[in-house]
Amino acid sequence: AIKGFVFDLDGVITDTSVFHSQAWHQIADKVGVSWDDQLADALKGISRMDSLNLILARGHRENDFTPDQKAALAAEKNTNYLALVNQMTPANILPGITDFLAELQAHGYAMSLASASKNAPLVLSKLGLGHYFTKAVDPATLTHGKPDPEIFRRGAEILNLSPAECIGVEDAAAGVQSINGAGETSIGIGDPTVLAAADINFTDTTQLTLANIQSQLVTA
Ligand code: BG6
Ligand code: MG
Repeated sequence: AIKGFVFDLDGVITDTSVFHSQAWHQIADKVGVSWDDQLADALKGISRMDSLNLILARGHRENDFTPDQKAALAAEKNTNYLALVNQMTPANILPGITDFLAELQAHGYAMSLASASKNAPLVLSKLGLGHYFTKAVDPATLTHGKPDPEIFRRGAEILNLSPAECIGVEDAAAGVQSINGAGETSIGIGDPTVLAAADINFTDTTQLTLANIQSQLVTA
């Protein structure tokens, strides 16, 4: 039986995936790499340095920067991103999420966070949702980022649950792959063609209710 939920943050709980995209778009322009929706989708869920490497590779510029220059570009992206995060309030929580978290808590489900973002604690505090996620995987302790299963496996472990007892919630294809690899049930939020690998697909966060999940699990 399902006993816990392991959540992605950016793009699931809050609209920060747009902020990450905006901040990376500025860096892509700076290094002369053209930006499109496909690149934006490919960047979702993956770590800061993996993201920079992907942008540079798209422009065949992967050998044009020293490690120090790359570190400076990644730091500049984070400065761009933090300028957006610092203006965040609980209004940036995606529709339906507050109700869903309260519903899970009322029904006694355990919850943890499996975000690749080193800014996750700051974002959660801006949203006023820190109390729901006292258990979170620290991305700095990971050997491999999404799509590797490590982060979602750890998200179950910190709840003292087996992966089979957990549902993972993601908006990124790399994240759905991580959930599936960990052996958890996956919910993909967003374009079902991008997230075709998910066990359950919802087009947006308003569909996240226990009743909707239960009916999808029965028909799966
Ligand atoms: C993920 C985002 O949650 O965190 C990615 O989807 C981001 O876009 C990654 O690159 C790392 O975030 P940060 O805040 O540590 O640079
Ligand atoms: Mg995400």
